[in-house]
Amino acid sequence: MQLNLAILPGDGIGPEIVEVALNVTKAVAEKFGHTLSYEYALVGACAIDKTGAPYPDETHALCMKSDAVLFGAIGDPKYDNNPSAKVRPEQGLLKMRKDLGLFANIRPVSTFASLLHKSPLRADLVDGADFMCIRELTGGMYFGRPQGRSEDGNTAYDTCVYTREEVERILHLAYKFAGQRRKKVTVVDKANVIATSRLWRQIAQEIAPQYPDIETEYMFVDNAAMRIIQWPKSFDVLVTENLFGDILTDEASVITGSLGMLPSASIGIHTSVFEPIHGSYPQAAGKNIANPLATVLSAALMFEYAFNLMKEGSLIRQAVNASLEAGFVTEDICSNGQPHTTTEVGEWLVKYIQG
Ligand code: IPM
Ligand code: MN
Repeated sequence: MQLNLAILPGDGIGPEIVEVALNVTKAVAEKFGHTLSYEYALVGACAIDKTGAPYPDETHALCMKSDAVLFGAIGDPKYDNNPSAKVRPEQGLLKMRKDLGLFANIRPVSTFASLLHKSPLRADLVDGADFMCIRELTGGMYFGRPQGRSEDGNTAYDTCVYTREEVERILHLAYKFAGQRRKKVTVVDKANVIATSRLWRQIAQEIAPQYPDIETEYMFVDNAAMRIIQWPKSFDVLVTENLFGDILTDEASVITGSLGMLPSASIGIHTSVFEPIHGSYPQAAGKNIANPLATVLSAALMFEYAFNLMKEGSLIRQAVNASLEAGFVTEDICSNGQPHTTTEVGEWLVKYIQG
């Protein structure tokens, strides 16, 4: 099969971890006889520095003509402490999501036996936790307008908007995933207070009967935040709106032991994007210490979701598990012995794949 990729390393540790994931992708492609072609493009702070735009038109054009996008991270501390900056790296990410129509962000949360002791929760609570968060990604408060300030600068406002169409398509996707898993959907909202949440719940109640073999559970977001900590094993597919999903998935990610392990897929209308859920970790940039595994696991999702190549995806996962079991890992998840560098972990994975 011909695989045409857009490679968007982004900022901070992005270039280092994406290089590892690309090397792993190359090794898998070679092993299974696929032809890989790829092109690099800019997004985030590095794109602002070079072109003035956080998601340049050339980057969008490349993404549109590619079969999949492998993305690192964006963000630079020089913008974080400057709330008045007019152009920000995050705008690049939001524009990419909107322009590519990436309405669903899929974040699988599963544990790794060898990392259970790293979880802030008791091992018996997290051992075997395996759920999937589906976050709506192109609606809600992130994109609702008006957004801004009053003329005197002392009042600010955001707008949360959802249409029936946006809610229906993400809920159907959640049921589709649940059908291939343990057949339970938890719809998370704040329908006791918020109008958009009441629309979500109404539509969910209309759709649920179309999936009689799937259990539907309704949960307020505050309660969901608590249950993720108290009883993570009770979830199978959790579906929610953009801002709630942003918050809950950061929470969910750490229960597995390391933010550096979790991949994500953003899918929708045009080309899908695969990226780690962590950020650009600027303190580690250029030091060759960042954990590349979340990006490598994102490459596994890319084989599965963008190309329907399941064996390729599972070989990557097998390689990652083997490196964890061998303790051949970066410092964030190293518990005994010498931690390895980002590139060393990458080389180990490539050798394993070449077998
Ligand atoms: C994420 C990030 C982004 C978001 C930021 C960087 C705009 O936190 O992908 O979860 O809020 O969606
Ligand atoms: Mn986030």
